[in-house]
Amino acid sequence: MLRRNGCAQPQDRNAEPVRDLLRTMRNGFELVSPSIEGLPQYAAALERGWSPDNLRDVSQEQLAAIRKDPEAFLRDAVSLDVPVILPDGRKVPRLPFHPFWMWDGEFCGSTSLRFQHGTEELPPHCTGHIGYAVVPWKRGRGYATKSLRMLLPIARVEGLARVMVTCDDDNEASRRVIVSSGGKLAGRGPSPLVNGKTLLTFWIDTNEP
Ligand SMILES: CC(C)(COP(=O)(O)OP(=O)(O)OC[C@H]1O[C@@H](n2cnc3c(N)ncnc32)[C@H](O)[C@@H]1OP(=O)(O)O)[C@@H](O)C(=O)NCCC(=O)NCCS
Repeated sequence: MLRRNGCAQPQDRNAEPVRDLLRTMRNGFELVSPSIEGLPQYAAALERGWSPDNLRDVSQEQLAAIRKDPEAFLRDAVSLDVPVILPDGRKVPRLPFHPFWMWDGEFCGSTSLRFQHGTEELPPHCTGHIGYAVVPWKRGRGYATKSLRMLLPIARVEGLARVMVTCDDDNEASRRVIVSSGGKLAGRGPSPLVNGKTLLTFWIDTNEP
């Protein structure tokens, strides 16, 4: 198990209730805060070509940053002061967020909840409240589904009665993750971020499932 002291923590007023929620939900599979102890496994996943960003391959740039200064990489990973770079190169401010690593004794992937305080609205460049990416060698074990479900009570703590989650219409695995977690299809349309892609939009009640 990863040591919690010294872990990078999300910058949020609800960080403590969120940690309490996660403590009650561990069962072999955990969502953990990015940590210096887990960083070698995270870097190994990047070396194998995995990217935590589904819209832009960030594996090489993140590896370079980790090699340069691991502590600074972790600080930046949870900082609201570091902008998000979109696929078209635009830099946009980061929303308040809770970033986690999936962990089953080993690094399995990453997920995050992002939101704006006091509203369920998201800016156009943010295509959903929750995103996830599982390393290829840990897929098909239910980890994305578990992660999404574990984030719903955290979203509730942040005041969201429902969350928006999207996936490409040809991403059957992600569509199944969303639907089996209570996702109700609310729309289908062109992706605002990737030309030629069609995005399915779902809403999930945070009391689900
Ligand atoms: C999508 C992704 C997160 C799923 O992760 P996962 O941990 O393998 O998902 P789960 O094990 O929880 O499985 C989810 C469902 O998809 C199904 N599934 C898994 N791989 C599949 C595939 N290649 N094609 C179709 N269905 C698939 C599973 O059988 C399961 O369905 P079920 O609940 O009806 O049995 C993972 O494939 C991934 O990281 N992909 C790249 C990044 C990405 O697409 N992120 C989501 C962006 S919206």
